Amino acid sequence: MVADFLLIKNFRNYENEKFIFSPNINFLIGNNGAGKTNVIEALTVLSGIKSFRGVSDKDLVRWNCDSYYCCVECSGKINSRFEIGYQLYPDKSVKKIKKNGNEIVKFSDYYGDIITVIFSPDDINIINGVPEVRRKYFDGLISKTDKIYLRNLTDFKKIIASRNKCLRDIAEKSAKKDQLEIWNDFFAEKSEYIISKRAEFINDFNIIFKNEYEKISSEKIIEIPEISYAGNITPDKNDILKKLNENYYLEIKRKTTLIGPQKDDYVLKCGDTNFLSIASQGQKRTSVISLKNAEIKFIEKIRDENVIILIDDIFSELDNIRKKNLIESISLKNQVIITAVNLDSIMDYFTGKNIKIFNIDNAVVTEK
Ligand SMILES: Nc1ncnc2c1ncn2[C@@H]1O[C@H](COP(=O)(O)OP(=O)(O)OP(=O)(O)O)[C@@H](O)[C@H]1O
Ligand SMILES: [Mg+2]
Repeated sequence: MVADFLLIKNFRNYENEKFIFSPNINFLIGNNGAGKTNVIEALTVLSGIKSFRGVSDKDLVRWNCDSYYCCVECSGKINSRFEIGYQLYPDKSVKKIKKNGNEIVKFSDYYGDIITVIFSPDDINIINGVPEVRRKYFDGLISKTDKIYLRNLTDFKKIIASRNKCLRDIAEKSAKKDQLEIWNDFFAEKSEYIISKRAEFINDFNIIFKNEYEKISSEKIIEIPEISYAGNITPDKNDILKKLNENYYLEIKRKTTLIGPQKDDYVLKCGDTNFLSIASQGQKRTSVISLKNAEIKFIEKIRDENVIILIDDIFSELDNIRKKNLIESISLKNQVIITAVNLDSIMDYFTGKNIKIFNIDNAVVTEK
């Protein structure tokens, strides 16, 4: 899949800019603060509905404006046009998404149709950060290949919110214990599904991940790391219901759900040892890039389509060997959109490819 045309209006520091991309390599070049990452961000909003920087839509609206609009036209197996518009009103905000001119009501009918994989300096948080970062990352990745998982996950989040409200109501004596039972039932059923799916995914994903790690790691490591799913309950509905009953008084006291996949983690391990406790900085970076390369391979295998690769300024962080390894691992068939402050450090790695260069100066774009 290729993004052929992008239009952004009142998005971040852009007033109204168009990009006609090369199906191969695209460089976005400009000084710090020029607006390079904002272009990548617009593409992540269009593909994932939310910004990869984890900010709210309000922050994406150009200062002194009250709306933003992004549109991308993609070609591939099918040609499609995707639009996202967001409007701020004094008392509310409205976000609309469209696919080929038709408004989409359910986000799961849209999410993942544009398949992008982003490499960014923040990726290291997937390894170093709190469990929530990993859960979000892997939930996003599974959702890109499995809409049923995404729908179940969305339902699960609503169930948790309702169950927690019920626990609060019981604690405050405005609800009775038996009102919780319906939520327990929904919760147990969805938990069983989500944990099973995540574990199944990790099994398949590990094979690809280890293969990618082996390919790009230049240093010798005793054992290739592997991702393991760290759950707090077994995926068995009856077992989960039993645990909920055992925890009843404690949950009423804390007014929240204490067990379940919303608390799970993914741990990188070398044998029995936690990878984080033995890995060097470089090895951690290698593992992040392997993770992303594996993400590309995994999605492409299931979707049978090329992903669009977005690379936000990570070349400045890598040594020459890793730069070379990364570029070699990106296949010629993918469209790549790369940001960098200048071309010096990267151009040499891309000789012979169909390159388009966009110079960005304070949100004004000129093609070279
Ligand atoms: N909502 C907004 N409205 C207007 N300008 C904004 C908004 N949000 C961010 N900016 C501006 O966008 C610029 C940052 O853009 P961006 O992150 O794309 O920079 P960059 O070119 O990637 O820089 P760097 O090389 O430092 O990563 C800053 O100048 C910032 O002030
Ligand atoms: Mg940037």
